[in-house]
Amino acid sequence: MELIGRILDGSIPQDLKEALRRAEPSGFRVSHDEKMRHLEEVPLLADCTQKQLRALSDISRVVEVPAGTSLTRAGQPGDEFFVILDGSAAVEKPGKKRVFLRPGDFFGEMSLLDGGPRSVTVRAATALRVLVIDRKNFQNVLREVPDLTQKLLVTLSRRVRALETPEHP
Ligand code: CMP
Repeated sequence: MELIGRILDGSIPQDLKEALRRAEPSGFRVSHDEKMRHLEEVPLLADCTQKQLRALSDISRVVEVPAGTSLTRAGQPGDEFFVILDGSAAVEKPGKKRVFLRPGDFFGEMSLLDGGPRSVTVRAATALRVLVIDRKNFQNVLREVPDLTQKLLVTLSRRVRALETPEHP
């Protein structure tokens, strides 16, 4: 119900809605073993125990979207944290060079940490396979795996610097 409400009020980009719907429990599913294999390859999660990875596998969804799909829209609210499993995504910020995110990279943490709108638009540059964790589960994961917070903060600081540093022509 919450998903449908957010599609109707426009806070989920239209083209992400089908992908999220396919990843709902009744739709497209990825086996637990396959998710574990993906999770084990994500550098952000390198220090997680097998038990923690299993918990992450239980609360995350794997979503596939075509090239061109907007996963976040600058200025819009957002409730998902994404980890790229396959493909690449472009960070689009007006007046800045596009930054490409690749397998193992994550995005969407800023709005989940401070509750504010998305800082930038992130669009699938190729067909993309992402692991999606929603807001409530994201908060639980940070509580359960304190090392993750430390790693997120390092990347977050780099991103804030990049957003605030003027680009040289
Ligand atoms: P959020 O603001 O929730 O949604 C857009 C995401 O893009 C943001 O969280 C970060 O995860 C990511 N992001 C923002 N700025 C950069 C940047 N300069 N480089 C890489 N990723 C970024």
